[in-house]
Amino acid sequence: MKSEVRPAVGAVIPSVDSLPKAKGTTRFIQDVNLPGMLHASMVYARTPHSRIKSVTLPKALSIKGVVAAATCDDVPGENRVGLVIDDQPLFVSSVARYEADCVALVGAESTAAASLGASCVEIALEELPPVLTVEEARKPDCPRIHKDGNLAVERKIIKGDVSDGETRSDFVVERTFTTPVQEHGYLEPIGALAVPGADGSIEIMAPAQCPFYIREAVARCLGLPLSKVRVIQLPIGGAFGGKEDVPSEICARLAVLAVKTGRPVKTVLSREEDLVYTSKRHPMRLDYRMGCTQDGNLTFAEIALYADVGAYATLSPIVLFRSTIHAPGPYEIPNVSVTTQGFYTNSAPKGAMRGFGTPQVVFACESVIDELAEMAGLGPIEFRLRNALKRGSTTATGQVLDESVGLVETLTRAKEFLGDDKQQFEPRPAGADTVRSTGIASMLYGVSLGAAGRVLDRGGARVEILKDGSVSVFVGCTDMGQGALTVLSQIAADSLGIATDAVRVNPVDTGVVPDSGPTVASRTTIVSGNAIIDACDKIKTRMVEVGASILGPKAAYDVSRGGIAGARSDSGLGFPEIVSECFARRVDLTATGWYVVPDCRLDEVTGQGKAYHVYSFATDVAEVEVDLKTGRVDVKSFLAIHDSGKIINPMTATSQVEGGIAQGIGLALYERFAVAEGRVCSRDFSTYLVPTSLDISDDLSVEFIDCHSTDGPFGAKGLGEPAIIPVAAAIANAVSNATGVRVEDLPIHRERIVKCS
Ligand code: MOS
Repeated sequence: MKSEVRPAVGAVIPSVDSLPKAKGTTRFIQDVNLPGMLHASMVYARTPHSRIKSVTLPKALSIKGVVAAATCDDVPGENRVGLVIDDQPLFVSSVARYEADCVALVGAESTAAASLGASCVEIALEELPPVLTVEEARKPDCPRIHKDGNLAVERKIIKGDVSDGETRSDFVVERTFTTPVQEHGYLEPIGALAVPGADGSIEIMAPAQCPFYIREAVARCLGLPLSKVRVIQLPIGGAFGGKEDVPSEICARLAVLAVKTGRPVKTVLSREEDLVYTSKRHPMRLDYRMGCTQDGNLTFAEIALYADVGAYATLSPIVLFRSTIHAPGPYEIPNVSVTTQGFYTNSAPKGAMRGFGTPQVVFACESVIDELAEMAGLGPIEFRLRNALKRGSTTATGQVLDESVGLVETLTRAKEFLGDDKQQFEPRPAGADTVRSTGIASMLYGVSLGAAGRVLDRGGARVEILKDGSVSVFVGCTDMGQGALTVLSQIAADSLGIATDAVRVNPVDTGVVPDSGPTVASRTTIVSGNAIIDACDKIKTRMVEVGASILGPKAAYDVSRGGIAGARSDSGLGFPEIVSECFARRVDLTATGWYVVPDCRLDEVTGQGKAYHVYSFATDVAEVEVDLKTGRVDVKSFLAIHDSGKIINPMTATSQVEGGIAQGIGLALYERFAVAEGRVCSRDFSTYLVPTSLDISDDLSVEFIDCHSTDGPFGAKGLGEPAIIPVAAAIANAVSNATGVRVEDLPIHRERIVKCS
């Protein structure tokens, strides 16, 4: 028999898509062109709040090269795209609720003709008073953006008795924080291509996180059965949540025009359109009150969150569910009350962005934790260790954590790294006007969709063993640059005991795999990974039956070598032999695997119950240098310590976290999305500053605590979002420690540092 195959899981394997991307040979949507294809441009309301009286097309249609246009009158099915709350039209028919609300789509022979055509669509409208802030939206006499009022989402947790907890507190901290809009800043703007089929079906190609969401949206708007819509995922140039739900509406509009004209229709947004039109991270106001006893035991947390959800609810009910659950942090607190409200405003919808409502609450919570630690006379690590969730602990929703809780290990590693737990967090003079210090922040993150998304929390995979012993895998979750293709190949390889090179994981095709829910919530490794393992198990069972007829009833699958082992150590069939034998006997070597995330449910009123099936944990350590004269903050070094269960690929996992640190530095220090009177001012990357490689410290370290999770594939949990979550909080705490001024607002204002320190 063959010698043992080196296990792929845990091995450093460069991501399979990195070389073609580096060489420029990957074909993105921009490069995909079909004969007869139209280029489309969206027509926007261009005013934050208005009543549309008429949309007049003849002038646009008279432009040379313009072929057709679509409005709400052309939608064959429902003119609606609301995902959780049904509040959003595909094309505006009466009221436009933000600057880039889409009124029409113009198709032309060239992109230039399409955009000229779009600018010539005449819109007669009556401006309505815009509602620009949550403060206004909350007022009882505020104009209503939707007929049921401006409160879009409300979520709650009630555990124990907060006033009782307060009575038992020796120290109480009360503070209000704010966090900003954050833009995803992916390299590739959103685009899509719709191709009408001769039989009334339609095919969509898009760089999108959620092909199954697109299938539903297109079917609904075209009035087609799901079977007549096929969505194929194209390579994605970054997404970070920004390509979760937004592509669905764009695809549905393209589909309407494709059906109307009988021609393929493509659009790729300009950077400006993408910045103005697409969803962003929710800006929030966070009111925190937390207390502890003299010995530093947390007694209560009373938290109120107010979020701006923008013009439509989109994913806000799910994002704000996550904020609510994660608001009290990774600590055991006997009395907790969290109330979250999301309000409509006349601005771009706020939706999914890496961390999904969690970076905001971690920033606020971790600041308060630092303050309580200081009052109780404990070091920040000691205080966190004292209150940290451990195996057997009860969370804020009353969930008992029975396994894979690695928070203490992350804190212990931070302590070992820093040495003295108090001195490290003092300011250290670094130059004439500069001072350095360190800050830490910890977090928990519920992996996958949890109680709020339980119905969607399943996924499939189709595995096919081909004649030559190579393996073709289709999964339902997408690779958006996070390394899924690579990690899932490793899982498939080790499930069968073969080399990773023999495996190809294909981009998502809704025609091949069952609906696997969205690619979000750091769920791809566990959902697609477990579905692959299930499919491989089914195939291995068939191989063993064939093997047993040759080797006898003791035959068993041997994953260490790949193939069938017989009763005697010298008997067996290698992988190619068993595959040929199965083909000769006409045995089917394809299987569909399925995985269902263990059920999570919460009480509607108290928010008590099992919120998520499993949690990832992390502690980040930031060292900053602050110039007290100019307020400039530099991140000098950063250490991120993660418990994401078994790490399938240390190389791709490390780069995931490094990217998260960069994006978190942006949230902490640079990114300011400017809007004036309901119109976006940050319309390019020279006015919306994301960190570049020069802004990122060379001294980044990423470490993993290997905390196995029983249900995860090979013990893995999720990592994509935890990568960014504690970053801004750790930097803010470091700046507070350096300056003695508590950071209350992100991004950190230089003016406040200069004024107060
Ligand atoms: Mo992600 S922010 O859950 O797409």
